[in-house]
Amino acid sequence: MDKIVIEGGNRLEGGVRIHGAKNAALPIMAASLLLDGPSRIHGIPDIIDIQTQSEILRNLGGEVKKIEDGSLEIIFRDGENDDKFTAPYELVRKMRASICVLGPLLSKRRRAKVSYPGGCVIGQRPVDLHIKGLTALGAQIETTEGYINASADKLRGTHISFAGKTVLGTCNILTAAVLAEGTTTIEYAACEPEVQDLANFLNKAGAKITGIGENKLTVEGVQKLYGVDYEIIPDRIEAGTFMIAGAITGGDITLENIRQDHLGVVTDKLREIGVEITPSGNALRVKGNNTYRAVDLMTLPYPGMPTDMQAQFMALLCIAEGKSIITEKIFPDRFIHASELRRMGADIRVDGPSAIIRGIPFLSGTEVMVSDLRAGAGLVLAGLVAKGTTQIHRIYHLDRGYEQLTERLLTLGAAIKRIKE
Ligand code: EPZ
Repeated sequence: MDKIVIEGGNRLEGGVRIHGAKNAALPIMAASLLLDGPSRIHGIPDIIDIQTQSEILRNLGGEVKKIEDGSLEIIFRDGENDDKFTAPYELVRKMRASICVLGPLLSKRRRAKVSYPGGCVIGQRPVDLHIKGLTALGAQIETTEGYINASADKLRGTHISFAGKTVLGTCNILTAAVLAEGTTTIEYAACEPEVQDLANFLNKAGAKITGIGENKLTVEGVQKLYGVDYEIIPDRIEAGTFMIAGAITGGDITLENIRQDHLGVVTDKLREIGVEITPSGNALRVKGNNTYRAVDLMTLPYPGMPTDMQAQFMALLCIAEGKSIITEKIFPDRFIHASELRRMGADIRVDGPSAIIRGIPFLSGTEVMVSDLRAGAGLVLAGLVAKGTTQIHRIYHLDRGYEQLTERLLTLGAAIKRIKE
């Protein structure tokens, strides 16, 4: 197992290119199961979760190959491999997002057997809304021996009103509805840019989805979808993480390949804290300061503050003057990083779904442990500014979602290295 070692205090400077969005790429790769013929998907990050998803698709009879850096060719053909419909525990346990093969399998192969993903360290991760939506479309679903077993002779368009916003739940209903008979409306659909990207991908392949980016999606079922060439949107969470890296080190960095419209709330909050941000086209310059102001923030569905940016903001607020309150509305237990930040000297008290952070003049380097991907990002950011040496263990979580994180931070001037333990 590797660890990351950081000597804190270096100011970051220079440019960094943002990769394609992991959370858009994963459901889009799964949706290629619906398409007849080869698809070329560009902007795919080189991370472990993508390798896991590729393995799941190969297991289902797909051909998945890298055609160049950041581009995959995925081939499924109508009528082939219909007897393959299982996403086994060995693969699903590595990545909860594998649940997004459920909709495509059910739609295309009429059967799906997907290991029940279970909970995880960021809190409860139920799939009841996925199951309710697919059942409304006509699927029979039961959970036996740890697997979701779903079948359907025919899927029929219907009206679905989600009881809560769910990103991958919306993706599963979309992918099940595109080839269903008739029209499906999804009320209270998630409108995250990653869901929009999936809908745009499906439309390019021949689907008829309207209302993209709105609370209500309408899907008119079609007979067939075809392979396409598609470019994934830039990763707004990776961008936000680098924005805070620039800010927390009092640095001056420019991010290339970003979507300003996807970063609205992150940009506004960082400005409120005292960071200078200058967007220009698909680039964005971040200039840090020596002192920052405390703020309150609440994670919410898009266009609200992403829960996937919560740990990174917490790291920054540890050194902002005054008292900040972070309220986690998506995963109320997603605060394991708070105890690790406390080991670095932070003054954080977790009270139910809220964390109260009292800013301190500096964090101190020590040994910390990563509990999940974004918690790991928060700890790396804290290490960049902490006095002394920070050693970060269990960094395999970071490899799941950030491509070449240490190398890119090193290029920007951080004193960071990866060491085999
Ligand atoms: C997606 O997970 C992301 N994963 C997560 O990113 C992200 O944190 C999350 O959306 C919220 O934005 C991928 O896209 C691969 P949800 P997802 O269903 O879809 C409740 C990362 O670090 N809920 O939108 O699984 C649930 O408990 C990861 O990149 C139900 O009650 O999240 C939560 O409170 C971590 N029943 C809320 O909805 C359901 O059936 C939102 O979860 C489904 C969800």
